[in-house]
Amino acid sequence: MAWYDNNQMWETFYDCMFDVDSFALAIKQCQQIISLANHPVNSVLDMACGPGRHLIGFAQMDLEVTGVDLSGYLLNHAANLIDQKGLSATLVHSDLLDFQPKQKFDLITNLFTSFGYYPNPADNQKVLDNAYQWLNLGGSLIIDTFGKEQVAHAIEPVHCTEYDNGDIRFERPVLVDHMNIYANEWILVRGNQAYRWEYEHFVYSAKELITMLEKAGFKATQIYGSLEKTDYDLAAERLVAVARK
Ligand SMILES: C[S@@+](CC[C@H](N)C(=O)[O-])C[C@H]1O[C@@H](n2cnc3c(N)ncnc32)[C@H](O)[C@@H]1O
Repeated sequence: MAWYDNNQMWETFYDCMFDVDSFALAIKQCQQIISLANHPVNSVLDMACGPGRHLIGFAQMDLEVTGVDLSGYLLNHAANLIDQKGLSATLVHSDLLDFQPKQKFDLITNLFTSFGYYPNPADNQKVLDNAYQWLNLGGSLIIDTFGKEQVAHAIEPVHCTEYDNGDIRFERPVLVDHMNIYANEWILVRGNQAYRWEYEHFVYSAKELITMLEKAGFKATQIYGSLEKTDYDLAAERLVAVARK
């Protein structure tokens, strides 16, 4: 089983990855994403939507919202939260490569480092190829991930994060395969229990991502260091690509 197709993993790490603050942040990010797109948006597809943090934000803007994700566990969270808020969204439980939308979209998003997971590079390219096909003319694909330049600059052998609920997460990231793959080990200490999770995914430079987007058909891609349109430089926190069809 691929590491990302493991509901037990998402369940264990849910409280760290998707805490209350992260949902509040996502609402703010949705405004920033619409501003980045800079064109009228009525319909949005969030590829790898997880627990629906951004679906909620977009639905609150009265947009027509679709989310697709491989994790039934995370989609259940999304469905419950969307229901509780009296919002509506189409949720699809599917691998991104099996998903076949019945419509086209004005905006497609892939957020919070959800790109590059497939071990076969051609499959990651296919995600972009599909996104291009699924966009209306003039629409945008917005990817929010971290870039190879950033990782190479800022990687720490061991990184520790303490959460409000008392959880402590230790990370031991490395760049392997000529710095093409970001491989990480998480050790979560919760009370007197520890949980361990290893994962890895491709990490792209800004230029590599632009090349892939061009191969998919996108004509113009803008690169930023955050959803707030800061520069992609050594101070950048994220690699954000805004690709227009
Ligand atoms: C880091 S989480 C981000 C979730 C969401 N975008 C957010 O910002 O909260 C990565 C997500 O990618 C989903 N995912 C991973 N591989 C996938 C695949 N092949 N097809 C669909 N979803 C996938 C996971 O289930 C998970 O929800």
